[in-house]
Amino acid sequence: MQINDKSQTKNYLASEERYKTMTYNRTGKSGVLLPAVSLGLWHNFGFIDNIQNARDVLRTAFDLGITHMDLANNYGPPYGSAEENFGTILKTDFKSYRDELFIATKAGYDMWPGPYGNLGSRKYLISSLDQSLKRMGLDYVDIFYHHRPDPDTPLEETMGALADIVRQGKALYVGISNYKAGEAAKAADILKDLNTPFILHQARYSMFDRWVEEGLLETLEDKDAGCIAFSPLAQGMLTDKYLKGIPEGSRASKDLSYLNVDTVNSNIEKIQALRTIAQERGQKLSQMAIAWILRQPQVASVLIGASSSSQLKENIKALNNLSFTSEELNLIDKVLS
Ligand SMILES: NC(=O)c1ccc[n+]([C@@H]2O[C@H](COP(=O)([O-])OP(=O)(O)OC[C@H]3O[C@@H](n4cnc5c(N)ncnc54)[C@H](OP(=O)(O)O)[C@@H]3O)[C@@H](O)[C@H]2O)c1
Repeated sequence: MQINDKSQTKNYLASEERYKTMTYNRTGKSGVLLPAVSLGLWHNFGFIDNIQNARDVLRTAFDLGITHMDLANNYGPPYGSAEENFGTILKTDFKSYRDELFIATKAGYDMWPGPYGNLGSRKYLISSLDQSLKRMGLDYVDIFYHHRPDPDTPLEETMGALADIVRQGKALYVGISNYKAGEAAKAADILKDLNTPFILHQARYSMFDRWVEEGLLETLEDKDAGCIAFSPLAQGMLTDKYLKGIPEGSRASKDLSYLNVDTVNSNIEKIQALRTIAQERGQKLSQMAIAWILRQPQVASVLIGASSSSQLKENIKALNNLSFTSEELNLIDKVLS
């Protein structure tokens, strides 16, 4: 996709303040430091979206010290278009900053028709990453993930593909996503035997979805890997967005299977109660939701989405208050129980 707005096409100079306020956390026992808040391009970066807005969000993110951008082969819609738009913006705005960025992509979900465009075969992973690199105009990504476990492909084959991708120089590190604790432990052991730098597990984690607390975080610590938590705001429910109904254009208004009017309505009382706790801490609900995840030592980064720069600017202020009293934590547990 072309960028037509001349006012934004030239001379992006990143803020000189960009490393002054962000916190960077070590990922497991690796050499990689990730910003405490990272930006995901699942929604709002496809061909159906406004590329100027996408560009504005990316510029704002980098200016705030957000050096980690997370993509996947099928982000869009249409599939592949988030990577293509990101590639366009990289070229116009971030060319000289490539080495300051930590860029992720993934394969594992449905991408192209037929038996080779889904799940966890070597055939799928290697060809998908080649396509992703072309769409983004990159020689390598910083981390490549297997996006979800494949129950039918031997784990040795999937992990072997990740190891070869690193050997080929197409990714510097590898990760897995949506693997349960036991599967993650096995994957980590295979990757260790293959001398492959496995540094991150990408897992859904929010106040409304605490499954990682039941073994995964400890497993990752045992394996010297870190966690990056996705959908920390429960796709917008853990913000002020839905307090007065469902705004037009919001994610819940799009009636997606995982977030819709019913999901919001069934959680609204909890949302209101959590907001009260946040207010007493002097925070917005979104800021408290992010800080609450960062209380876990295994979590290197919280991976948020944003449909505007103003959301990003609001959310990043979570870092101004990351500590919780045990009374606050108990109150939150009580609301969530
Ligand atoms: N590995 C996986 O399987 C997987 C799965 C899902 C996501 N992810 C990754 O995680 C990233 C983040 O996921 P997510 O987008 O679901 O995260 P999220 O941070 O829980 O939700 C982001 C959405 O919340 C709303 N929002 C954010 N800040 C707000 C604010 N201050 N006020 C009001 N509304 C606000 C916006 O929705 P509106 O658009 O309605 O404004 C925004 O698009 C994705 O982009 C992707 O990179 C990975």
